[in-house]
Amino acid sequence: MAEALKVKFPSPRKRVSAMMEYHPPLGCRDSLRLDFNENTLACSPRVREVLGAISAGSLTRYPERAPVEAKVAAYLKLQPEQLALTNGVDEAIHVLFETFLDAGDELLLPVPTYTMYEVYASSTDAQAIAVQADDSLDFPFEKLMAAITPRTKVIAIANPNSPSGKATTRELLTAIALRAPQAIVLVDEAYYHFHGETVIDLVGVIPNLIVARTFSKAYGLAGLRIGLLAAPVELMKWMRRVLSPYSVNSVALACLPAAIDDETYLRWYIDDILAARTEFEAALDALNVRRWPSSANFVLVDIGAQHKEFVHLMREAGVLVRDRSADPGCDGRVRITIGTRVQMKSAIIALNNTMAALRQEHP
Ligand SMILES: Cc1ncc(COP(=O)(O)O)c(C=O)c1O
Repeated sequence: MAEALKVKFPSPRKRVSAMMEYHPPLGCRDSLRLDFNENTLACSPRVREVLGAISAGSLTRYPERAPVEAKVAAYLKLQPEQLALTNGVDEAIHVLFETFLDAGDELLLPVPTYTMYEVYASSTDAQAIAVQADDSLDFPFEKLMAAITPRTKVIAIANPNSPSGKATTRELLTAIALRAPQAIVLVDEAYYHFHGETVIDLVGVIPNLIVARTFSKAYGLAGLRIGLLAAPVELMKWMRRVLSPYSVNSVALACLPAAIDDETYLRWYIDDILAARTEFEAALDALNVRRWPSSANFVLVDIGAQHKEFVHLMREAGVLVRDRSADPGCDGRVRITIGTRVQMKSAIIALNNTMAALRQEHP
């Protein structure tokens, strides 16, 4: 139609026309979901109760986030002004980059890492600089320190990282923040609950440190889209200008207090996942499949040239896993989320059968 009428469509910003479009494979996932590092079971039953009690009338109102922000801040021992709830950590990353990255600035990314950093960076006029980890996938601390320049404006570090599952220490994160006082150091603690070490207590102590957390993983609320930013008030005031006051919906805000209050459920889920991880790692070791030690709810494994077939055969066996071959330095590697112990028993059967089939093909 447009062509017939010889219509010329207005063009987007130059940056946007050069952006990559990111389509995570979210379709057809009615199997055991070991592909997105989600909670693989359910959120707390207390959240279900809140959901059941939400009235149609309450949905007619715009969401009010301040009281819930105050509650979450108190829970994390932060001042309310230091905390902003976001539409998942993805929105947190987007808002932070939009707030701080200008033309000529540099964003340092230790890679491989979470894809959305690069996606959101590509919509800014800053330059993303990848700092490649070596084959151990350990945090490339020395290389990162060496890559800091006066232009470095943001350093984004997932701790633990994805897809490696590797974590770094408070000492190294602090050293980076001190080396680059002109830059924001974003520590993305999406997988904090499976690791247990945090720097959130240093927010407001280290002036350039910002921490992000999500409720998508251990809490099992990925579908509600809720995360948070914790930052010194002096930095938060700029990010609040960019952040929509409406982006966290009222259903998520209603559920969050119940999720936080149910510490028993959270503890049970985390403990079960950590026990399942140990059992799954033992199964990988018994098969002689190379894996990287993980501090998160997933394990990266090296399948090699047969990675596509591995993913396919696991899917046929009812288990979804994620091919990470396209990530820098990850050729042949597949990331497997850890579900509950019961779920991982069937995952181990699928793994054993899949590896046997692949090894029969290529002994
Ligand atoms: C390191 C990291 N940060 C953030 C996210 C996304 O979090 P959210 O669901 O809160 O947007 C993910 C999701 O996989 C992740 O791996």
